[in-house]
Amino acid sequence: MDKAQQDALKKAAGIEAAKLVENGMVVGLGTGSTVRFLVDELGRRVQEEGLQFTGVTTSRRTQEQAEGYGIKIVDVDDVDHIDVTIDGADEVDKNFDGIKGGGAALLWEKIVATNSNRIVWIVDETKVVDTIGAFPLPVEVIPFGAGHVISRFKDRGYNPVLRLDADGQPVRTDEKNYVVDLHLNRIDHPRELAEDLINTVGVVEHGLFLNMVDMVIVGDPNGPRVMT
Ligand code: 5RP
Repeated sequence: MDKAQQDALKKAAGIEAAKLVENGMVVGLGTGSTVRFLVDELGRRVQEEGLQFTGVTTSRRTQEQAEGYGIKIVDVDDVDHIDVTIDGADEVDKNFDGIKGGGAALLWEKIVATNSNRIVWIVDETKVVDTIGAFPLPVEVIPFGAGHVISRFKDRGYNPVLRLDADGQPVRTDEKNYVVDLHLNRIDHPRELAEDLINTVGVVEHGLFLNMVDMVIVGDPNGPRVMT
């Protein structure tokens, strides 16, 4: 599938998910190219239909895009609940175990998701897999001592690669941390891996989102379909 076809599926999933947003809701807004289509559609509804809702964003990028449409954005600590969070994903299996963080926003994404009443993912059909792990697993790491964390990951056979930007500098998250991508090929025991990663000193969060999501809207050439 070429990028234009994939983008069309992402856009269809984003537009479908925007229908879940109603007046007065508090909505978590994820990060990534699929979420950009969602926010475009929500922005259109705000401007053309007078939709009013409050957003909590999972990255500065999404915040800027949403505020550009006049969507009210507040800090996650300024709301007592989030009705629904709509986010993208890098991979998801039929048990709703998934990988996130391709866009380096995994920490805020997990914080917002954890505080949401309902979580919806929007993906194109290429993201639905039998076994997760072909997509490199992002891990957010504190810069201080990151070299030692990477060595530990190497010793455990996790094939870590520090994520670099176009200038060859380490990518920094919105919290100014590094991202280390683990090239695992497949993850047969995601819960054990999650436990190991989160117990490694220097790791802030990992991109395993295990059975957290309530619904996945899949952009499919035959039209968006829902996995529940
Ligand atoms: C960002 C994420 C994204 O949701 C994930 O990478 C999917 O991105 P895209 O919609 O661009 O394929 O987890 O940290």
